Amino acid sequence: KKRLTIASMQKMKQKQVPITMLTAYDYPSARLAQEAGIDMILVGDSLGNVVLGYDTTIPVTIDDIVYHTRAVARGAAETFIVSDMPFMTYGVSREATLNNAAVIMQKGGAQAVKLEGGAEIADDVSALVKAGIPVMGHIGLTPQSVHQLSGYRVQGKVEQEAKALMEDALALQQAGAFSIVLELMTEPIAAAIGEALTIPVIGIGAGRGCDGQVIVYHDLLQYASPYIEKRFVKPYVDVASTIRQAIEQYVDEVKTRQFPAEEHVFQPQSESTSSAAE
Ligand code: KIV
Ligand code: NA
Repeated sequence: KKRLTIASMQKMKQKQVPITMLTAYDYPSARLAQEAGIDMILVGDSLGNVVLGYDTTIPVTIDDIVYHTRAVARGAAETFIVSDMPFMTYGVSREATLNNAAVIMQKGGAQAVKLEGGAEIADDVSALVKAGIPVMGHIGLTPQSVHQLSGYRVQGKVEQEAKALMEDALALQQAGAFSIVLELMTEPIAAAIGEALTIPVIGIGAGRGCDGQVIVYHDLLQYASPYIEKRFVKPYVDVASTIRQAIEQYVDEVKTRQFPAEEHVFQPQSESTSSAAE
């Protein structure tokens, strides 16, 4: 299998072939995503919520992203990997933005970085792209700004908000972003953005008009995710129940001395079978 390229994503948009993206945070999740044929993996800062147990993505650091990206890169060497730039690691100074993105690419092994924000970060996006770093945008509900946005609200419900989303998308494309994530917005504005842009838009809670979809690994699998009741999530399996039941059975079998059983244990060689050399 060959790693997808930005040029091939562009072609997929033109040919209206949906692009699939899934988050992954470690070796097994990355490996399974790749084996299942996912087009792109996102090492999202949702890591903070679904893996590290934080309430928001704000505490996630560059070191966290690098550490997890390395594991993902080992598990999915043939898949295009995008890693999130964490809260306040971009948009502060140009130099810091470039250095932080370089660390994620060099030490982590991602093929691209993703930044939250619209027109206000277009200069940063443009500087990264000029330095040869592919950038994915992310607009709509941007979780790093949860407090400023007053919670996880659907975006683009009113005309003025929808207009701002379109302007942000155009600014990011103009700045050289190769794709944009559209998170939690009404279906018509997401579709209109997809239509207006030449680069692919990847939706999450943004409806059917996007060029691709992205979902959080733990949401898709119902893997002890704190967010499975989100309306835009379709849980495909209940992995949490399977895991919990297996652990319960293990606990029960140890308590009742059913495990380990005869077939799991080792005995010394008997007199008759032991070799003279021993
Ligand atoms: O961190 C993440 O998982 C994301 C996706 C929801 C797009 O940014
Ligand atoms: Na994210």
